[in-house]
Amino acid sequence: MNHKHPLFFLQIIIPIVLIFIMLIFLPRFSSMQKWEGQKIYNRHCASCHGKEGNGLKNLFPAIRESSITAPQDLVCLIRNGRNSGSVVAMPPNQTINSKEMKLLLIYLYKEIFRISVPNLLSEEVEKGDAFCNP
Ligand code: HEC
Repeated sequence: MNHKHPLFFLQIIIPIVLIFIMLIFLPRFSSMQKWEGQKIYNRHCASCHGKEGNGLKNLFPAIRESSITAPQDLVCLIRNGRNSGSVVAMPPNQTINSKEMKLLLIYLYKEIFRISVPNLLSEEVEKGDAFCNP
């Protein structure tokens, strides 16, 4: 009977402790993701659209109110750039890798558009990259 106690400890207590450790680190992990995305946004997008996504007068649209929010459409737009008759065109960007693209999109959804992050974001980013390269 006595032999069961150490086993009980290993099988029950250790998983419980691990779950608590995960619960403590999970929010930090997601804010780390957000911070990574912010760095990518600041490096590649903020010069035109502003740190808060408020744009610049008639030159650069306020993407806070972007009409384009679907993940595949965003990947295509970022990869190919766009000029729908505006004074300055949005240049194509092929330097962001797909891991960075996902972090950038998470940042856009959470902090710029302030809408919920779409499901299956990784798959959507991959599809965007597969179908939208010029
Ligand atoms: C050199 C300036 C410049 C940079 C850098 C830039 N953009 Fe743009 N962006 C524009 C311009 C100009 C438009 C409008 C293009 C058009 O439709 O003619 C635009 C359009 C957009 C739109 C569509 C807004 C709408 O409602 O139609 C989104 C979203 C967007 N950009 C996101 C980004 C993101 C994300 C990045 C960084 C990866 C980025 N842009 C980098 C200039 C820029």
